[in-house]
Amino acid sequence: MSSVLIVYFSHGGNTRKMAEALAQAVQAGGCQARVQTVQDTSLENLVQADGLLLGSPCYFGNIAGVMKQFLDDSIKLFGKGQLEGKPGGAFVSTGGIGGCGELALMSLLTSQLIHGMVVQGLRKGGHLGPLAIGEPDERVLAECDSYGRQFAALVKRLRG
Ligand SMILES: Cc1cc2nc3c(=O)[nH]c(=O)nc-3n(C[C@H](O)[C@H](O)[C@H](O)COP(=O)(O)O)c2cc1C
Repeated sequence: MSSVLIVYFSHGGNTRKMAEALAQAVQAGGCQARVQTVQDTSLENLVQADGLLLGSPCYFGNIAGVMKQFLDDSIKLFGKGQLEGKPGGAFVSTGGIGGCGELALMSLLTSQLIHGMVVQGLRKGGHLGPLAIGEPDERVLAECDSYGRQFAALVKRLRG
């Protein structure tokens, strides 16, 4: 069975709730889901996963520093193209409308594109991936559900 690694940082629990909702949806979509904080995961785990979802709160219009540090460390995988062709996606919790959550999403997606990964967008809903204002509400949880299922389908198509 294809595996999806969901790596997130969360201080207050909002992004963690999105990660958990996405994991349920990925499993419902027919892939194994592994959820890890960015502090607990490793570059090796990224290489081994068939698909990768990255989540962060929006901090000062960008991703949290610990996630940025992890992505900077992933330069070790860049030279040999170890993430190339791997399906990826992103999710973010931000403080408010206009708080630059989309910039944080783009930051997560851009790093994946630079690694040569294949990024899943979202046609109906937040186009860059699930974006919550604070704690994920029913609408965001439904979006996590459809995004996670769609992502699992992509992973199975490309890696199954
Ligand atoms: C250091 C810091 C910087 C933040 N910067 C922003 C910001 O630029 N824009 C915004 O909308 N919210 C900002 N927030 C609010 C968080 O993005 C928001 O509370 C989020 O839901 C926290 O997610 P978490 O519960 O997973 O930690 C900031 C919070 C902190 C602690």
